[in-house]
This record gives sequence, structure tokens and C-alpha cells, in this order.
Amino acid sequence: MSIQYQKESRTITIDTLHTTYQLRVDPHGFLQHLYYGKKIQGQDMSYLYQDYDRACAGNPDEAYPSRRISFNTMPQEYTGYGVGDFRISSLAVQNADGSYGADFRYVSHSIARGKYSFQSLPASYGDESEAETLSVFLEDPVTKLSAELLFGVFEKKDIITRAVRFRNGAKSNIILNKALSMSLDIPYGRWDLIHFHGKHTLERQVERERLTHLVKTVQSTRNTSSHQENPFVVLCGRRADEDHGDCYGFMLVYSGGFRADVELDQFESVRIAMGIHDDQFAWTLQPGEEFETPEVIMTFTDRGLTSMSHCYHRFIRHHVCRGKYQFARRPVLINNWEATYFGFTSEKLLEIADEAAKMGIEMLVLDDGWFGKRDSDDSGLGDWFANENKIKGGLKSLVEQVNAKGLRFGIWMEPEMVNEDSDLYRHHPDWAFAMPGRVPTRSRNQLVLDMSRREVVDYLYERIEKLFNECNIEYLKWDMNRSISDAYSAVLPAGRQGEVLHRYVLGIYDLMNRVTTNFPNVLLEGCAGGGSRFDAGIMCYSPQIWCSDDTDPIKRLSIQYGSSFGYPVSTVGAHVSASPNHQTGRKTPFHTRAVVAMSGTFGYELDPSKLTDEEKEEVREQIGIFRKHYDLIQGGLYYRLTNIGEEAYEAWQFTAEDRSETLLNLVITDIQPNAALINIRLKGLDPDAVYELTDESAGHQCVIPSEIPYREWRKTFSGAMLMNAGYTFPLVTGDYPAFQLYFRRIS
Ligand code: GLA
Repeated sequence: MSIQYQKESRTITIDTLHTTYQLRVDPHGFLQHLYYGKKIQGQDMSYLYQDYDRACAGNPDEAYPSRRISFNTMPQEYTGYGVGDFRISSLAVQNADGSYGADFRYVSHSIARGKYSFQSLPASYGDESEAETLSVFLEDPVTKLSAELLFGVFEKKDIITRAVRFRNGAKSNIILNKALSMSLDIPYGRWDLIHFHGKHTLERQVERERLTHLVKTVQSTRNTSSHQENPFVVLCGRRADEDHGDCYGFMLVYSGGFRADVELDQFESVRIAMGIHDDQFAWTLQPGEEFETPEVIMTFTDRGLTSMSHCYHRFIRHHVCRGKYQFARRPVLINNWEATYFGFTSEKLLEIADEAAKMGIEMLVLDDGWFGKRDSDDSGLGDWFANENKIKGGLKSLVEQVNAKGLRFGIWMEPEMVNEDSDLYRHHPDWAFAMPGRVPTRSRNQLVLDMSRREVVDYLYERIEKLFNECNIEYLKWDMNRSISDAYSAVLPAGRQGEVLHRYVLGIYDLMNRVTTNFPNVLLEGCAGGGSRFDAGIMCYSPQIWCSDDTDPIKRLSIQYGSSFGYPVSTVGAHVSASPNHQTGRKTPFHTRAVVAMSGTFGYELDPSKLTDEEKEEVREQIGIFRKHYDLIQGGLYYRLTNIGEEAYEAWQFTAEDRSETLLNLVITDIQPNAALINIRLKGLDPDAVYELTDESAGHQCVIPSEIPYREWRKTFSGAMLMNAGYTFPLVTGDYPAFQLYFRRIS
């Protein structure tokens, strides 16, 4: 059992492979947090908490007349509200008598095999051999609001998840104005915060900063997890780097607005709290009702950021993603968006399919523009009926023709949105969010459907079901192209409008759940203007997410680098597109584009009829290399070998868990004359093994001749050589060259 209760000390200890987490019920019934960090077995950690009389720190009645016990200095598992803890709070409530107060005491706890699950929210999963659940029941003795603190423990994975289930045990309503998923107090140490900020076409850029005595908030108020911040943050020691140092990760399994607040308090103690954003949030709990928060996936390692990332990668692949494509090989696809935008005909699509099939591509994805009156982005959204002016003979016939060419067929939809110029909007204007008396704010000419309404979700499901039953569609790109404003539901009473944003998110989860449950063979690829909903909530339904609308491989490097801190390569949608790139105008070699896209799900997003014969041959070769290394890339350990932007090149590596093979990738981002030689030290190999090199990128660079030609340089290396002395690359010329070197253990 990874969860132990010590009766005498009233401590509950969670041990995972390398970490220990401990809490205790103090003599007054306060639930205190004692420790989360590197494994310490069988010890009572309560000595870490020392209580002193601190000025301006209030004292709870039970402790009276002691002035040493105060919520404002006590490390807590979850905060109360309005009762003397002036640090960031995890909840805010208003009771029926108008008071703003919650003050919890421990009631009981239970330990069970297997992982808890939720009624309506997605969550990670684990059976009885993989996970355990600790539930700690707290109750406010005055209002009878209870909070069940849930801990999902994946011992072997070094993961602890946290969430809260609130229950109103009173006879009147209680309003939750804020209900975060967790808080954690870290009383000692000096910490940096790493967060992943961005914008459309440049998501998940890494920013690292020292904690100061300001509260720092990483947040989205857009009701998407957003391009601008990701619901994943890291606290790491000031000297922590890829290979050393303490790192805590906090990842929210939620796709709507969120906040993660970090406070360094007056006594240098850190508190982090994370959950659904409380902006426009007010949830009425009627007597007997429950409210579940989404969960936070936490990990700790003392072995640096790479080790933390590996922990998340394994966990997301094994305990978040699910369904047929969790592990099954996904098709190499071609998407017509950057090839044609809205301007396609079925003839053009069939031409793309023809060329694609010849090159070994396995699926055609028909992007935006196939439905309703949709020749630009100002009309048609909502009318999920094929536009037969463009798709001659209808969708079924097109799918059959594509299938006949040996390609599978996928389609794009944006179910949550509607254009005013659409039949759906003309019939159901009240289905779109709009505040009384206001014209809703448009974005990309579209409005947002009220997904909190059952009939809206039902209607969308019927449409999708019909399409999927009629046509052999094997993939769905589920897009969502705006941030949410004007959230107001025509069917909820005034006093419950604070529930709309969260109910919206529950609505999309409901729809995604119905689609993936009833069409288990369909591969869902999440998308939201690229990577505006790149989060573990969506990953519960969609094992891959289009990670950015930026397909320029050089800018992609930093997007994929940032994504890799929390998310595995198997979730990162990435395509080879045309050069010059449509977003940046940059010209890059075809090979480099493929090397970068291969560190993702891999596919193409270009017009194959514009490729030369040599390029078509290259596509065949690229697909061959991707297939050959599929398991290594998708399931291997990912190592970041450079800190983004620090060098004139970026390097990263995939290593098999059993250390039998590794793939080293390098892209030179700033070619220099008379350059220094690039030497990269590999990671994660067996020092005593001998590895043989295959250059998968041979012939794709302009190598400057050396005394001994590069191709005749050494071909076998011990793991110790590669890890301690490194691999030296030849000097090359030309813009943005890339290398892809494969090392296989031969003895
Ligand atoms: C979003 C997506 C793109 C494409 C367009 C279509 O921007 O991220 O990949 O599907 O919508 O309108």
C-alpha cells in the first residue's frame, strides 16, 4: 500500500517510487500539510512545522488562548475562507445567511484501491493494480459544507493527482464563488516558476522567473486553456536544470479558464493553488448537491526537468490518453488547409489524394470549407451538411473515391461555433451566447454556441452521428477558433449565470465523450486555432492535438520544445508544409521541415501537385524513416539537449526505455561562417554498450570537405563516448540544415 495512516501521530503518508507526501490531523482537527518531496520512508515530518506567535495572525477558537496557532502561518492541505488565512485561498463561498466563510475540520478519511473518477469531468485513470485513492473528508461544522479531498496515487509513476468534491450538507443553498482543485504549501527553499505563455501561432514559450513576494498568477479568462498560458506550471529549485535539482509539476486536467496562483509569503513559504478560474464563476450548491473540481496531476523529482518531463510523458500516454489510438500506430495524413484553404473542389481533393497515395500517405483530411455556404470564414459554421457545389455527388461519394485510392478519410469540424449567416443560426438564434440587450462580440466572424444546453449538444451529436454513419470517416479534427465572451445562457436563471462557463466545458466533454464512445475507431485530433486547447482535459478524448497553426519549422522548434515539458510527442500534431512558409515567409529545406514534424504525429499540409519529382521521392523516404522509428519517437524518452535560443542550433533526442536505440536530431537555426564545430552529448544510453550509427539524413546537407570525408568518420561508439565526449557534427553551409542520426546498440 502506498498510503499509510499512523494512528498515534495522526499522519497520512503517501509514498511513491521516489517521493513522499505527508499530511497530518493536528489535535484541533486542522488538516496540515507536512511534506512533499524526495522519498523519506517511515518518518513523522511534523517537526518541520513550528508554530510561533506572529503579529497580525489570527488564532482559531479551538487553540485559544494560544496565540501561536494561526491559519495564516499553518501549512494546509486546503484552505478555508474568510477565517484568518490572508494568503491566496483555494475557495470562496457565500452562505445562505450572506456570510463569506468556510472553516474546515477533519472528519475522516478512507483509502481504496484504484483511482477515483468523476461524474462529468475527464480524469486520469488507473486500475486496482496501478493506483490507489485517498479521500480525506473535511467539514465546516457551522455551515455543513464538506470538502472531500481526493488524492489519486500512482506509486510506480511518481504521480499524485488532487481534486476536491464539495457537498452541501446544509438545508439551504451555498454559493461557491471559487473552487480550486488543490493548494500546496512548500515552507522552505528558493524557487523559480516556469510557465508556458504564448499567442496564436506561437504557443507554449518557456518563461522562467524567480518567485518574489508578489502573487504570480498564470491564467486564462478565455474559457479555453488558451494560447496565452498553458494549464501547466513548474516550481523548481533556483539551480535546477535539465539533469539536476528539485522540480514540482502541476498540470490541470481542464480545458476552460483556469488560474494557478503562486505566493511567496512574508515567512518565505510558498503556496500554490490551481483550478478553474473564478472570473464569472458562481456555482449554487443546493442542499445535498455536489460539485467536483477538475484534477491536478502533480509530480516531484529531485533529478531535474528532464526527469519531470519523462514522468508526465509516461503518465499521459498510459493514464490520460485512451482508446484505440492510445498506442495503435496513427496514420500519416495530408491535410488540405494550407494547400487550398477554402478554395477547393472535389476534383482538386481527388488530385491531392492521388498524389498522396502514390507517396505513401495514408489519410486525406478535408479541412474547413466542405459544408454549408462556407467559402470564407464569415458564413456556414453550424451547417454540417456537405456543400454539393464543392463536393460533387456528396460527401459519401467523395469518401468512397478517396478510399478507392487507398487512403483513409478524415474531416474537420468546429462544432461549438456558429456564423450568423447560417441556417442553424437563423433557426436557433438563442443557441448562441449573447447577453440581454447586447450584440455579442464577434471573433473570426463567429459566435459561440451555448454548450451548457443539453439540446445544443444533442443536436450536434446527431449531426456528427449521421455524418459518421453515412460516410466512412475515420478521423475528426475538432476545431474551436475563438475565445469565449458574452457567456450568457438563455435558459439559466439570472442567479445561475455564473455556472455557464463551466457548464460549457462540461458540454464539450459530454459531446467528445459521446463521439469517442460511439465511434471508437475514429481518431480525434483536438485543435483550437492551433494550440489554444492543448491540455490534459482534451487529451482524455483526443490522443493528439494540432499543436500550433505555425508550421514554420524554425519557430515550431520553440513551440515543440515548450510543449515537451509536460506533454509527450505522441500528443503533438505536426505537419510538413510548403516553403516559403505561409505564416512567416521563411524558406527552409524540405528535409528540415520533416525532421521537425517527425517530432510529433507527422503529416503533410501542402499541395503535392506543386512538389517536384525529387521532393515526392523525399516524401516517400521521410515516411519510411518515420515508420521505421515510430515506436522510438512516439514512446521513447525525450531529451531536450539545448536550452531554446541559447545556441545557433537546437538538438533533441529520443531514447528507448531499454537504451537499445536512440535518435539524435539537430537543426542549425543560425548558420555561421567559419563556425565552431557542434558537439552534442547524448543522454540516457548504456555507457558500456556499443552503438552503431546510421545517418538518416545523409545527403541532405552541404557538408564542407574535411581531410577525412564526413561519411568515413567513425561509425561505432560506446555509450560512454556519446554521453561523455559527445558526437561532433561536420561543418555545413546553407540555411537551416538538419541532421537525424540513429544509433543502435550492437553489443
Ligand atoms: C484553425 C485551425 C487550422 C485550420 C483553420 C480552418 O485555424 O487551427 O488548422 O483548420 O482553423 O479554418
